[in-house]
Amino acid sequence: MRRSGVSAPLGRGVNFGNALDALPDGGRRLVLRDEYFDEVKAAGFDTVRLPVRWSEHARQEPPFSIVPEFFARVGRAVDQGVRRGLNVVVNVHHYHEINRAPDDHAERFVALWRQIAAHFAGRGDRLYFELLNEPRDALDAGRWNVLASRALAAIRESDPRRVVLVGSVAMNDVGALPELDLPADEHLMATAHYYAPFEFTHQGAPWVEGSARWRGAEWGGDSEREAVRRDLTRAASWARRKGVPLFIGEFGTYKEADPAPRVEWTAFVRRECERLGIGWAYWDFATDFGVYDCDSRAWRQDLLNALLSR
Ligand code: GLC
Repeated sequence: MRRSGVSAPLGRGVNFGNALDALPDGGRRLVLRDEYFDEVKAAGFDTVRLPVRWSEHARQEPPFSIVPEFFARVGRAVDQGVRRGLNVVVNVHHYHEINRAPDDHAERFVALWRQIAAHFAGRGDRLYFELLNEPRDALDAGRWNVLASRALAAIRESDPRRVVLVGSVAMNDVGALPELDLPADEHLMATAHYYAPFEFTHQGAPWVEGSARWRGAEWGGDSEREAVRRDLTRAASWARRKGVPLFIGEFGTYKEADPAPRVEWTAFVRRECERLGIGWAYWDFATDFGVYDCDSRAWRQDLLNALLSR
């Protein structure tokens, strides 16, 4: 995989957010149904990113065993995707404790990956692993680079060739990609998220303090388009220099943004990714940023077009 010129291996994707990663504190949840995989496939997506909150379903003490029933739940979702010819990216999502106290959780994190890799070894190459969603806070570049390489080594004990995605620090900021030391491995991809300008994409998002003040933020001037182009071009150049494909594993807008700039931003970011050979996954399928409405069982056609039109 570590060859220059490989473009967008994961193609076009969508996140099944707030399903297997759901937080206990309310918020909208997605109950994963088989038909959603059909919808995603039929619409023309190549990939689903499956955020998984493993840390809530594993023992706190060594050997940090993952609960078998949870493994089975994740396995069913993986199978639903792979069976339809979709790529499935499984990550470790919402392991908040590791951002606060990385040294205390390093051994457990590595043990989670050792188990996940062994469990899914032999599952075929449509399954991808992504080490950790949005490392941040105390999990800075120095610590993350060491931890990522330890987790990769644990995966490689049972699965020498599966493609593993490694993300940048500072919440997978594209601007932090240069701080990422990629381990020496032939089967890596880099990943980052794109939510800029944050005041536009997260206006009114209840989990972001102060975001009520951003309501009504618009997007679309030349300088704003130029900023997106510059950020993504820099990220793509970095990936090219490193010889790894790049995946924008999350981008999207909270549902409160005005529909017209929302659609425009989505289409612009998506087209720039594709122009630069970057694979992408929209955040998310059907909750806070949703491109699909579970109640009416229908796509939000304007957003879907922004993602999938030629
Ligand atoms: C990150 C968070 C997720 C949030 C999304 C958009 O993936 O983990 O909970 O909904 O970003 O802010």
